[in-house]
Amino acid sequence: MPRQQITQSKIAEHVQRLGELYPPISLDSVDRTIKRPGVVARKFAHVIDYLARVELEVDRNVLELLVLLPDADETNKTFYADVWQPQEIQHGLILDRLQQDLGRAAAEPQLEVSFPIKVLGALAHLKPIQDVSKLMYFLTGASTERQAVLAYNQINRGMQELGETAISETIITPIKQQEPGHFAFYQMSATAMIQEKVLNSWQLFLTRVMREKSYHLVGTNRMKQYQADMGGVMADLGVDKDLEGYAREVGRVENRLLWAHKQGMEFPPYILKALKESVDLYRERLERGFKFA
Ligand SMILES: [Fe+2]
Ligand SMILES: [Fe+2]
Repeated sequence: MPRQQITQSKIAEHVQRLGELYPPISLDSVDRTIKRPGVVARKFAHVIDYLARVELEVDRNVLELLVLLPDADETNKTFYADVWQPQEIQHGLILDRLQQDLGRAAAEPQLEVSFPIKVLGALAHLKPIQDVSKLMYFLTGASTERQAVLAYNQINRGMQELGETAISETIITPIKQQEPGHFAFYQMSATAMIQEKVLNSWQLFLTRVMREKSYHLVGTNRMKQYQADMGGVMADLGVDKDLEGYAREVGRVENRLLWAHKQGMEFPPYILKALKESVDLYRERLERGFKFA
């Protein structure tokens, strides 16, 4: 268990600080100089395509959240309405423009709320299920934001190696600074629910089952095409070489909060399974002769 007690006022302070420290990044603040567009496109276009789409899907995430958390409290509302959505949508718009500067097509975000979310949403009006879906939502947030942090770190290193200082300093670095605060919000919120023992043992059991059944990587939307794309992103970023290490990073929060009783387990097995599936789908597609659909 974590050493520190996470109180609701600590979470509220964190949200307020994020809002003050990180205003949404404006499109005008970006220096659009690209020294070697061809090289950047060859190395990173697919990663940027993927991230631009995922960031632009924040508007669907907000709809999902409204479905999943019909009784969201003030802190949650402030976070998604005043901090998170305004920041993420700018990430999306900036990356989408970058990919078009690289000669690629604009992103096509999926803005339709999926069927499983609608089902869960219908049940979420029942208080015991509401708590389960709330914890699921925080765990999903922690896992996806962690993936974003790792991806932007890798891209930034790559852009610096290519000498693309404008992209690194005015796009990736400012975006990358905003992601850890999102991760911390979800991580603190999930931790507080466990520390305050909001869920009884059958609710925790249900949460574990549902994580096992529904876990998916950021932006894959449970679709094979996107799973394969995500495998390609992992290959481009080099994380496919150490999937276990990556599973450990991405799964740390829920391993600690949901699976503490499984002594010695380093990450929930369904996370590694999802990673492997994505990489396999990508490799299959490569064998069929094309990299991205
Ligand atoms: Fe983002
Ligand atoms: Fe984020």
